[in-house]
Amino acid sequence: MSQTDGFFTLEMHDERDALVILDQTLLPCEVKYIELKTAEDVWWAIKKLQVRGAPAIGVSAGYGAYLAAKHFETDDLSIFRAKFKEIRDYLSTSRPTAVNLFWALDRMGRAAERDVGSVAELKKVLLDEAQAINDEDISMCKAMAENGLSLLKPNMGLITHCNAGKLAAVKYGTALAPMYLGHERGYNFKVFSDETRPLLQGARLTAWELHQSGIDVTVLCDGMSSLVMKNGWVDACLVGCDRVAANGDAANKIGTSNLAIVAKSFGIPFYVIGPTSTIDMNCPTGADIRIELRDETEISEMWYAKRMAPEGVKAYNPAFDVTDNKYITAIVTDKGVVYPPFDVNLKKLFG
Ligand code: MRU
Repeated sequence: MSQTDGFFTLEMHDERDALVILDQTLLPCEVKYIELKTAEDVWWAIKKLQVRGAPAIGVSAGYGAYLAAKHFETDDLSIFRAKFKEIRDYLSTSRPTAVNLFWALDRMGRAAERDVGSVAELKKVLLDEAQAINDEDISMCKAMAENGLSLLKPNMGLITHCNAGKLAAVKYGTALAPMYLGHERGYNFKVFSDETRPLLQGARLTAWELHQSGIDVTVLCDGMSSLVMKNGWVDACLVGCDRVAANGDAANKIGTSNLAIVAKSFGIPFYVIGPTSTIDMNCPTGADIRIELRDETEISEMWYAKRMAPEGVKAYNPAFDVTDNKYITAIVTDKGVVYPPFDVNLKKLFG
């Protein structure tokens, strides 16, 4: 599988002391890369969604923790480790829902406990660990592309929500990865992308990256899915996830659950695609997933020349919802496709 669109989501440049990211808040109008040099830079970039999508958030946090640690001025390993824990705790407050953030920071924390002789050696261990998280993300997305494509047939109509593509991971993406692989193999998919209010990741990001790759993509307003399904234009739904609970309930961008309920009523398969790093076996059900609440102005003002909701009217802006496992046909992971009963089969997946 190749990725040759001429853009990248994130790249570590250790020689420049910088994590370079594509600022996704400016897409699709402007392709601009920015350098993140400190843990604060990375925290803000995650918070503001300049870098976003569960896998990309995890990888960025790993590099952010390393970048901070690289400049710790101490030769004392226990002082170094204590400062590193502070940085990890700080980065973990950037966004609450995507478990990849915590998963990556935990991995960095375990790496920091390795038995080494000096701070210099430990810094190298941390860079290697962040790089390993980055590289594993790429291989997991490749595996999800194959596993997801095994469920699809040529000429299918597909619908997706938010952005679970190249921009949400280091490369290839999760829910969009089977589309890219199918495209390479001549599957000729027709993709519908929900615009995804309020931050329009579907219109701004998914449509942008699929279009760049030459995939047939049509943007829909979020409330149009039942119409296109009724028209017979959709054969399968493919969405990403930010955290999958042990019972298969899946948190993803707000509106995903609506799509799943509509798909079920039309008998259309609903596939949640995510790497094993997004499955949180310590989280029993969707009710235990913390949902990020974002600023009301993202709904009332952000995209408009003039505000679109009256002054003084409240707006409710949860960034994610949880799709009940009963609406999910299968969860596609890097280790294979998991079918219901999810509580039993996810446990088997993790051995
Ligand atoms: O708020 P965002 O843009 O980070 O939300 C992203 C999503 O909901 C994605 O669908 C999810 O992270 C899966 S990404 C491969």
